[in-house]
Order: sequence, then C-alpha cells, then structure tokens
Amino acid sequence: MRPQKVFIFDTTLRDGEQVPGCKLNISEKLQIAEALEDLGVDIIEAGFPISSPGDFTAVKEIGLLIKDTTICGLSRAIEKDIKVAAEALTTAKKPRIHTGIGVSESHMRYKFNASKEQIIERAIKAVQYAKSFVEDVEFYAEDAGRAENEFLAKVIEAVIKAGATVVNIPDTTGYCLPEEYHSKISFLKENVKGIDNVIISTHCHNDLGMATSNSIAAINAGARQVECTINGLGERAGNTALEEVVMIIKKRMKEVYFTNINTPLLKSVSEKVELAMGMPVQANKAIIGNNAFGHSSGIHQDGVIKHRETYEIIDPLEVGVNESKIILTARSGRAAVAFKAKSLGFDLNKDTLDIAYKKFIEIADRIKEVGDKELTRILENTPQVSIV
Ligand code: KIV
Ligand code: ZN
Repeated sequence: MRPQKVFIFDTTLRDGEQVPGCKLNISEKLQIAEALEDLGVDIIEAGFPISSPGDFTAVKEIGLLIKDTTICGLSRAIEKDIKVAAEALTTAKKPRIHTGIGVSESHMRYKFNASKEQIIERAIKAVQYAKSFVEDVEFYAEDAGRAENEFLAKVIEAVIKAGATVVNIPDTTGYCLPEEYHSKISFLKENVKGIDNVIISTHCHNDLGMATSNSIAAINAGARQVECTINGLGERAGNTALEEVVMIIKKRMKEVYFTNINTPLLKSVSEKVELAMGMPVQANKAIIGNNAFGHSSGIHQDGVIKHRETYEIIDPLEVGVNESKIILTARSGRAAVAFKAKSLGFDLNKDTLDIAYKKFIEIADRIKEVGDKELTRILENTPQVSIV
C-alpha cells in the first residue's frame, strides 16, 4: 500500500499565542504565517477572531497574504463567534471555521451547565451555521480525552451529519495515556456512522508529557490530521510539537505515512518563533534544541567522530542544523580534543596530544565547558604543536 498523507494543522498562532508572554503583533504574525506556508503545513490556525480586534485583523491579513494553505479561524459554538470568524476569513483562498463545545462531564456541568442533549443540539447548530459561510468546517469536541466514549460517538455522528468535514478529538487537558487515546479513536472509527467520510484530527496537550506519543497513537488508530505547534508552544505545558511528530513520521513510519513538511526548514522556523515569542527553547528539546545534535561524553564523542550514526538517528542537515557539535567538557576524551584541535587548525601528534589533554582536563574540571577560545589558548601554550 502507498504511504498515506497525514495533514499538519499548525496552531502556533492560536493555541501557541495563548501562552502568557507570547503575544505577537500583526507584522510578527504575518512573518510566521509566511514561514509556516514555506515549511509546508497544510492548515494554519491563524487566530480566534472574536477574541480581540487585533486577532480579527490578523486572521484577515493572513488570509490575504497566504496563497495556498488553508486558513482556519477558531470560534466557540456561538452564532456571534462563528459570524465574526467567517467575516475574518473572507480574504482567505481556502477558509476553514473551527467550532466546537466541551463534551466531558466536567465541561458540560461546570462550564455549560447543560445536559447531553443540549450539548448535541448546540454542536449541530454551530456546524450548520458555520456551513452557511464556508464548506470546510472542523468541529472540536473539547476535553474529548476525558469524555465518555459512547457520548463522544453520538456528538461526532451528529456533527458529521450536520456537515463537519474534519472532527477534532482533543485531549484538552493532556490526560490520556497513548493506549487510551488510541482506543478512543478506534472506538469512533468502529461506532460512528460516516466517520470514514471525514478527517479525524488529534489535538493533544502536554500536561503529562505525552502529547507527541498520543498524537502518534491516534495516527495509528486512523487519525489523519495532527494539530501541533512549533517548539511545542501552547496552553500550560504546551501542545504536540510539530517538529517531533513530523520527524517521527519521517524516520520511523515512512512506509505507512508521509507529511508535506520541508524538514530542512524546521530549525530556522523554530528560531523565528522563539525570537518573535520571546520563549526560549530548552537546550535538550528534541529535534531543534541546541543540544539535540551535541555530544559531550568521551564515549559518545569517540563514536560520533568515527561514524556519526553511532549516536545520531537524524542527520542534522535533515532538520536544518548545519552540523553535529562536539562539546568539550571534563567528560570528553582525547579523540574529541584532537578532533576539535584539528578543526581549529592545530595538528597534534600522540605526545603533544597527551600534554594538551592533561592541561585540558585540569581546566575542564574547573569550568563547565571548554570553548574554542580556551582550547586555542591551551594549544598555543602546548610545546611543539604545529599549526596547519
Ligand atoms: O485544547 C483544546 O481543546 C483546544 C480546542 C479549542 C481545539 O484548543
Ligand atoms: Zn488546545
């Protein structure tokens, strides 16, 4: 069987921008939207138009600017929200309204004070109303992760009948285990009439650190759209990181699935978002963190210098990182010091390497990392080291 496409729905400009301190101005949003289109995402969730005049304008301007990618606007299952989202999307070449309502016991009781029947009725009305503006309507069943599967199935069947083209099953609170989320999607696949005519979407939060695993579990159960953000930004502990899901599909699932993402742009888009949002990426973040291709222990450095694949499963160029890094610390061995010395233009033989290494280890024990400047100083003070 030919690999199937997994659609990448980026919500950096909506769920990502909800993070305290990550607010963007319009020009930053436009730049990020353009970068996302170049990256190859299929859908850009550009904002929540009713939330503020700024967000409304941003969605409108992004719609004008973006050529080919679907532009999505969020709304609650409220007529006014949907109408404003539709207005903001009039400039988009491919508009999508994303509307929905909470379906877990907790949301129905405490947020809506509504019965199950009332929730279903509101969901149907929202989708029908959204359909009067655009063809492409995505429905989100908020807090589906904690919802009863039987009730969730009823809601999803009703919104498909009302015209939803995509059904989003969010694990809003990051609660599900991967096998639970897999069973939830499988349950819907088996029990909802019409489910094969729509796209099932995953939208996972990272409260227990399982957003990426849950998204992958959902793909394996039949989901064909992943909602995610650059650098995993998003409410609380964040959303599924786009770069992680895309690289998992590319490295481990390519016989079965593919995405449209131009992966050598991942690092630069990540840096753009990091800078604009002022939210530093942790150094050990998978794929795009500064240490993702850095090696600091002697055993690993020796292996990587001999053959990169001994400790790297991704070629850094595949994600837009120029090269692997050898980081000199007190855990580094002779091979790493000789390698770094050579890259700095110093040619060491066995004896000079021994002398330089002794000095290096003394200093490395005192400071966290021996940088190029410090190593150059050591080498220049090592007798008989020739400069090549
Ligand atoms: O986490 C969530 O459930 C959401 C919805 C609005 C899609 O962000
Ligand atoms: Zn969310």
